[in-house]
Amino acid sequence: MVEEVLRDPRARGARAGTASGQKPRPLAAVTAGAALRRTTGLAELDRVLGGGLVAGSVVLVGGDPGIGKSTLALQACGALARQGLPVLYVAGEESPEQVRLRADRLGMAEAGVLVVAETAAEAVAELIGETHPAAVVVDSIQTLHTGALGSAPGSVGQVRESAALLVARAKASGVACFLIGHVTKEGTLAGPRVLEHLVDTVLYFEGDGAHALRVLRAVKNRFGSTNEVAVFEMGEGGLAEVPNPSAAFLAERPVGAPGSAVLATLEGSRPLLVEIQALVSHSGLAMPRRTAIGLDPGRVALLLAVLEKRMRLPLHDQDVFLNVAGGLRVDEPAADLAVVAAVASSARGRALADDVVVWGEVGLTGEVRAVGRAEARLREAARQGFRRCVLPASNARGLAVDGTRAEGVAALDQLFEVLALA
Ligand code: TYD
Ligand code: MG
Repeated sequence: MVEEVLRDPRARGARAGTASGQKPRPLAAVTAGAALRRTTGLAELDRVLGGGLVAGSVVLVGGDPGIGKSTLALQACGALARQGLPVLYVAGEESPEQVRLRADRLGMAEAGVLVVAETAAEAVAELIGETHPAAVVVDSIQTLHTGALGSAPGSVGQVRESAALLVARAKASGVACFLIGHVTKEGTLAGPRVLEHLVDTVLYFEGDGAHALRVLRAVKNRFGSTNEVAVFEMGEGGLAEVPNPSAAFLAERPVGAPGSAVLATLEGSRPLLVEIQALVSHSGLAMPRRTAIGLDPGRVALLLAVLEKRMRLPLHDQDVFLNVAGGLRVDEPAADLAVVAAVASSARGRALADDVVVWGEVGLTGEVRAVGRAEARLREAARQGFRRCVLPASNARGLAVDGTRAEGVAALDQLFEVLALA
């Protein structure tokens, strides 16, 4: 059950039935100036935002606890403050002292960031009116509550109403607003997902706590393209940009080990090399285990079935584990061919050559289908020093980059041949 606020439709400012007083006008008469954008001082963050922070926009930053949301927000605050812009940091989870400690760690203690510990949404809206900041960070939206509802802070209704209040204030005053939200274990309940439709931009932080690499992904952006990613590294002095993400994702790749394949994936506009790892081992279970981290389990099940049926690879009595090294999520069908190669390599106990990159979509009959931007992927592979690319035959025609060979395959049996897995 989710508590809702009943509004009097006659009251001023009520959402239902309020007229804006505007008359329809020709579209041609509407002037659309470029939105006012400010650099956040973190070039990678600017990129996922679509070229900077837009005044009056609301950005939701979601992710697991401990992934670095507060750190990112505070670093952005520091950089904005250093440009002489007033910024307000609303700490709902931590005390101002704790925020100060983090700021010390990030080397930005003397930056002119205003901080306040506040959890009442109305009070935050008022503070925005009083301090006129260029940007405000609410850390986290789950700690806010509004007097309009009787339910506990953190409940779906509270999170949604509080966010709606701040969104309205941001739009009215031109203040850019970062809302930080934890992803709950269930992924949905009272989490950032209930806010996605309210805000302009949704950024999700990915990565596993054990590794320093963090990926910030735009899943919605009214001011830029979605599916852009930024890659950061969490270090002693906070989040740092990673200049060569492919190299970072491949840094710990084992050489000459079966079960490892390098994939050229496309993240937004950017080609990225990542390692797909597979482990196929005999199972003592009636229902062998299938575990896929960073990949769609349904897709993986499909690929294993294709391998079993078309390539006669006996997997029905084997546990299969798959992992995208570095904590990245790969949702592209182009990952299929690398998944297949990694699984076959582990099952056969034969390592792939370590200078080969693989990508392409696999169909149900074992055919290899074309995917987009083959040339960009090939160039990235060449830039990282790989000499061979195995890709869909229909993409490979006429494709050439100095020093790196494009080897087209039309079906899985050809893949097995060129990778010496047959
Ligand atoms: P934090 O931003 O508090 O995460 P969130 O707000 O998403 O819960 O980051 C917490 C982790 O980052 C914590 O494990 C400590 C680590 N960290 C660093 O490694 N270096 C740093 O400079 C900072 C500030 C944090
Ligand atoms: Mg935090």
